[in-house]
Amino acid sequence: GTVVLAYSGGLDTSCILVWLKEQGYDVIAYLANIGQDEDFEAARKKAESLGAKKIFIEDLRKEFVEDFIWPSVQANAVYEDRYLMGTAIARPCIARRQVEIARKEGAQFVSHGATGKGNDQIRFELTCYALYPEVKIIAPWRIPEFYNRFRGRKDLMEYAQKFGIPVPVTPKAPWSMDANLMHISYESGILENPKSQAPPDLYLMTKNPADSPNEPDVLEMEFRNGVPIKVTNETNGISKNAPLEIFSYLNEIGGKHGVGRIDIVENRFIGMKSRGIYETPGGTILLKAHLDIETFTMDKEVRRIKQGLGIKFSELVYNGFWYSPECDFVRHCIAKSQENVEGKVQLSVFKGQVYILGRESPKSLYNEELVRWVNFLGNVCVCLESSCVRLTPEALWAGSALTKVGKK
Ligand code: ARG
Ligand code: SIN
Repeated sequence: GTVVLAYSGGLDTSCILVWLKEQGYDVIAYLANIGQDEDFEAARKKAESLGAKKIFIEDLRKEFVEDFIWPSVQANAVYEDRYLMGTAIARPCIARRQVEIARKEGAQFVSHGATGKGNDQIRFELTCYALYPEVKIIAPWRIPEFYNRFRGRKDLMEYAQKFGIPVPVTPKAPWSMDANLMHISYESGILENPKSQAPPDLYLMTKNPADSPNEPDVLEMEFRNGVPIKVTNETNGISKNAPLEIFSYLNEIGGKHGVGRIDIVENRFIGMKSRGIYETPGGTILLKAHLDIETFTMDKEVRRIKQGLGIKFSELVYNGFWYSPECDFVRHCIAKSQENVEGKVQLSVFKGQVYILGRESPKSLYNEELVRWVNFLGNVCVCLESSCVRLTPEALWAGSALTKVGKK
């Protein structure tokens, strides 16, 4: 049979490629570009030399931003109060194209290099089953003949030497990384001891705030439907308005000022805790800016319900259920809540922080006149007419009814 392997170019999936061939499969190597720092042409040559029948290198950066990062921004998606899920949202994006290729190429099998104790295996496989229910999944790290043969990096290196797989020349970092446009994650290896601190040179996307510039970058971010449509740097006039360009620019500014580093212990789906270090510069700026414009424009009671949906969404996505009826439903509800989330937020990015400076919106539910009036009277509940009493007075008062109530 033919198998489409999610190939990273690294040692593990290179060994898997050759091992699958050894088992008698025709292997199609599929490498997704979701913004990781990678020499894709070198990876193509490598897969070719290892005997891949076909090689697909797919630039998914635009769809990663528009179809996966943007809905997460709308949701304020955060897992266990801190993790912005850069890996969790990348997996359904990668697997979606993988099964598209499998269908197109008439492949019955897909394969991946995720281990048997992590979240990624689940995210890959649930996506594959949801979008290609007949597919058969080969997860080598859960197959005894594979994991008994490869008990550590030493075994992989020996196998590589034996089968002419180019071995990495630079020594491996003593932890494992997963990188894409949204973030870089670091875990395992020396980080497995939750007390041992990350060395300062671990971080690749963000500067240490202690070494970041002594001048802030002041940005204006414009939102429509709860997603950014424009970012302008007030300091130098630079402006971006395509999704991928906006997100990349926020990464650049966030990285420059050391924004979005976290070090956490989280609960994996499979029932173990794991220690992870993440840097999510652009995503962190976006989260703060979106929260601000959202609260400014969204009805108080809608916001409370929507906040609960955001937590639900985060759990579903973390656990691999991006493509499920319940997640689809939650995403639609969240999208509906974003219809009026538009306007501009001014913020400053400085020394690891995002400082909101101000906001404006044609859909604002904030009423300055009311604020002044309330301050003056010292009591807002003095003169509601029965016609004014509804469940969400906030929306009502922001509009014309104020004048009516106020003038009474
Ligand atoms: N713990 C994070 C998550 O579950 C990061 C996983 C990193 N994955 C990796 N293949 N290194 O989303
Ligand atoms: C892995 O085990 O493959 C990476 C970690 C994870 O998926 O949580």
